Amino acid sequence: MTNTPIINVTDLHKTYGKKGEKQYEALKGINFKMESGEFVGIMGASGSGKTTLLNMLATLDKPTSGTVEINGQDVTKLNGNKISDFRAHQIGFIFQDFNLLETLTAYENIALPLSLQGVNRKEIGTAVAQIAQTLSIEDLLDKYPAELSGGQKQRVAAARGIIAKPALLFGDEPTGALDSNSARELLELLKRINYEQLISILLVTHDPFSASYCDRILFIKDGVIGQEIKRDGRSRTEFYQEILEQLGTFEQ
Ligand SMILES: Nc1ncnc2c1ncn2[C@@H]1O[C@H](COP(=O)(O)OP(=O)(O)OP(=O)(O)O)[C@@H](O)[C@H]1O
Ligand SMILES: [Mg+2]
Repeated sequence: MTNTPIINVTDLHKTYGKKGEKQYEALKGINFKMESGEFVGIMGASGSGKTTLLNMLATLDKPTSGTVEINGQDVTKLNGNKISDFRAHQIGFIFQDFNLLETLTAYENIALPLSLQGVNRKEIGTAVAQIAQTLSIEDLLDKYPAELSGGQKQRVAAARGIIAKPALLFGDEPTGALDSNSARELLELLKRINYEQLISILLVTHDPFSASYCDRILFIKDGVIGQEIKRDGRSRTEFYQEILEQLGTFEQ
């Protein structure tokens, strides 16, 4: 018996724009599987379709055709409450632009996924304290997003993404706004939760350093997956070198 993949994408297409208007085919038949517990990267040039793909996988947008199974369930068929329920229980996000709610404090932002699940205040307090310690943001919890630096916002967004211990975590350039030290810390944290809490992670990134933390990388070009490379027990530095070589041959 084989385990159900955490992600199974079949012949996924996405065309933006209505019929008769200006249309753009951003995804042209994407196929891939991701096993539970994997840490997978998606790389590709600007405009190649990375965010589009992530939005389909995370139920933030609907594909034009094709299927997206998460844990065996076709999420392209979900609607309304079922989508909210699925998001609250199965997935976490860390976006490039943070997506923090400006009217809530850092504490309230981080607590949000648990509040939405109806978890009681005391448990939420314990969970926020724990994650805040891991990310060294204990002193920021009473601040509003406008009072935080880019790197601090990114850490608050990361805390919110992982607090509910999702089965699957999506990141779209999660280190994009961070200096190299904070980026490294966030990547080490992702690697740790992937390993210790068996959270599967799908990371979209331009950055070869971030990508070198993954087990496997899919390269997307003009809306299709062109190549795939695996770390296969090699050191992170060796993998980093291979990623650089691949980018050199692939991105032009
Ligand atoms: N809402 C939209 N309407 C029309 N076209 C869109 C829309 N969103 C994206 N596109 C187009 O689809 C293509 C893929 O966009 P996408 O955002 O997925 O790229 P990306 O790989 O994430 O790029 P980047 O690395 O710059 O974030 C681009 O050519 C973009 O112009
Ligand atoms: Mg993008």
